[in-house]
Amino acid sequence: MSASPVGVFDSGVGGLSVLNALRAELPHERFVYFADTANAPYGERGEDFVTQRTLAIAVDLVERHRIKALVVACNTATAAAIHLVRATYPDLPVVGLEPALKPAVSLSGTRNIAVLATRGTLDSLKFKKLHASLADQANFSLVPCDGLAAAIESSSNAAIADLCARYMHAAGRFGTEPDQIDTVVLGCTHYPFIADELRRHAGPGVRFIDTGAPVALQTRRLLAAAATLADECDDNIATVLETSGAPQALAAAAARWLLQPAAQPAAAAR
Ligand code: DGL
Repeated sequence: MSASPVGVFDSGVGGLSVLNALRAELPHERFVYFADTANAPYGERGEDFVTQRTLAIAVDLVERHRIKALVVACNTATAAAIHLVRATYPDLPVVGLEPALKPAVSLSGTRNIAVLATRGTLDSLKFKKLHASLADQANFSLVPCDGLAAAIESSSNAAIADLCARYMHAAGRFGTEPDQIDTVVLGCTHYPFIADELRRHAGPGVRFIDTGAPVALQTRRLLAAAATLADECDDNIATVLETSGAPQALAAAAARWLLQPAAQPAAAAR
């Protein structure tokens, strides 16, 4: 079991930001990453569709790759369906992602926080509960970023620049004065890749938070608890990339964004 891979998936390339953190935290593990590019983006597809895709991908990763743990490296898929994945595989360690509202509350000095995420995430019951549980501790400016994940998927620089300007403007005023937003939660795994573009609209002193590192730590904890951490001596280190879309597109994204190289992506069933 220790030699089995950890499954990681996202609607597309966003989860590569989480994969980077996982590989840094767990250098002896094997990973299989699935990008559901043929169906991306998830953010504006509606909960039923995202639920159906999430379950189908989880089943495929378990049955074809015999994964020992699953990281749902997508806030939108986590919000829609992680409870159903857990119900389907009660013995499989499953790690999900949610926008980092709690860390933001403890880090923010002004208690004014912007949350950038997909419409699907912000509309979900899971997110609404999280937001309600913290609403008396900070002001949250919730910004559904329609089109932004799609622009990142297609590396459309002009669209990325335009949407970053629009959504940061919609969030409110940034800065470290009492009424200003000093903390931005990147609530979609695609957004760390365009953090520099977003930062241009925030100015100095504003903090950006993503969840890659804590998710990698949680994955380590769950593997340790299940006694399935890869052997320190295991030299069978590999990361496999698969996509329901065009393998060349995922190869280009991996070459651009993965901090360590991986095997050439392969096409997988839609
Ligand atoms: N990267 C995903 C997330 O974290 C989904 C983006 C999308 O497909 O719309 O929410």
